[in-house]
Amino acid sequence: MNLVVIGAQWGDEGKGKVVDYLSERADVTVRFSGGANAGHTIVRGDRVYKLHLVPSGIITPEKTVILGSGMVIDPEALFAELRELTNQGVLWEGRVLVSDRAHVVLPAYRKLDVELDRQRADPIGTTGRGIGIAYSKKAMRDGYRIIDILEQQVFDTIDPADRGFLEQYREPLADMVIDVQRYMELKGSKAVLLEGAQGALLDPDLGTYPYVSSGCSAAAGASIGSGIGPRAIDRVVGVFKAYSTRVGNGPFPTEFHADRDGRLIAHIREIGNEYGVTTGRPRRCGYLDLVALRYICRSNSIDSLALTHLDVYDTLDEVKLCVAYDIGQASVETFPASRTALDDAQPVTRKFPGWKTSLSGVTRFETLPQQARDYIAFIEQYTGVPVDIISVGADREQTIVRRDPWIQS
Ligand code: IMP
Repeated sequence: MNLVVIGAQWGDEGKGKVVDYLSERADVTVRFSGGANAGHTIVRGDRVYKLHLVPSGIITPEKTVILGSGMVIDPEALFAELRELTNQGVLWEGRVLVSDRAHVVLPAYRKLDVELDRQRADPIGTTGRGIGIAYSKKAMRDGYRIIDILEQQVFDTIDPADRGFLEQYREPLADMVIDVQRYMELKGSKAVLLEGAQGALLDPDLGTYPYVSSGCSAAAGASIGSGIGPRAIDRVVGVFKAYSTRVGNGPFPTEFHADRDGRLIAHIREIGNEYGVTTGRPRRCGYLDLVALRYICRSNSIDSLALTHLDVYDTLDEVKLCVAYDIGQASVETFPASRTALDDAQPVTRKFPGWKTSLSGVTRFETLPQQARDYIAFIEQYTGVPVDIISVGADREQTIVRRDPWIQS
């Protein structure tokens, strides 16, 4: 079975935790897009792992992970991350493989990324990891793939300064490189977990363009970014938080306003630790936006939702979510492409009573307070997709699984 996991909002939904959990049953985990702009946090007991390039399946002992063809890889960042994993006692050697077709991020791209964003009249708020430059170079047919830096003939054509930088990584990368499709065939991998990065609202085609990232973070990218044919994808899991966050600029119709919702913002940032893993920037916070979530469910064929950070709402008297936008005189329940419509959209909210009790020790859906179950039931009814996984804390054990996505119904 081939299972895709994507972020169903603007990234930082808790995909790392969900992928880590699901990787237990996977033969192999393939990350299919993005680069070191991503930040995935995994908590196991008193250990906290922060990953940017290495797929989140790596924390599960003995499992193989692959950096897929749709990724853009900064070798310096990759080997720094692997060194950090070694320091944390993760035995990764022989378990981290890299697609020969993945693209390379060169040091100059990082600077250029930041400079270009600074020159924009309205900056995107890039993480400055060179991701946009690497994907642009790929589209312009000016990029280098991993295989290109390993082949002497091609390597010799690269700018001498870049060659100087890349030389040190050629040997270690040569030990890790594979043709993903061929590898799967030879290994006969039966359970493949396809891990997305960022969130589908940051996808260049589906998202809030131009305030998006550059890799394909939608479920459709799982096929092309891993080398698995589109008909071989069996199921798509969308991960979302009980509220919304966004880092960087761009439309955010349900964003809290500092003057009106200052205490709520402070509460969510503190309890939910809403600071970027990659840049440390405080994340913008807002209500759960069901208009956007339903759009993402439909445009990504999401079969199964994983709700995270539900415990962040434990102490609130009431919990609100957005069910429509008022745009001018119209009430809208579909997610607009128009930047002005998204900027003008006023959220129409629905209130639910808070559960006012700690969820952090709950392990079964049936023992969740009725108020939390009602909140979840409403999300399911609105989106038409079951909430199969509920996370009530950062630790792996704090996960309620109502239906295992690996088991086809
Ligand atoms: P870039 O991909 O670093 O150029 O950033 C483009 C936009 O995507 C910026 O608004 C970033 O904050 C956002 N972004 C990129 N990666 C992530 C992520 O992993 N989580 C959340 N936002 C991200």
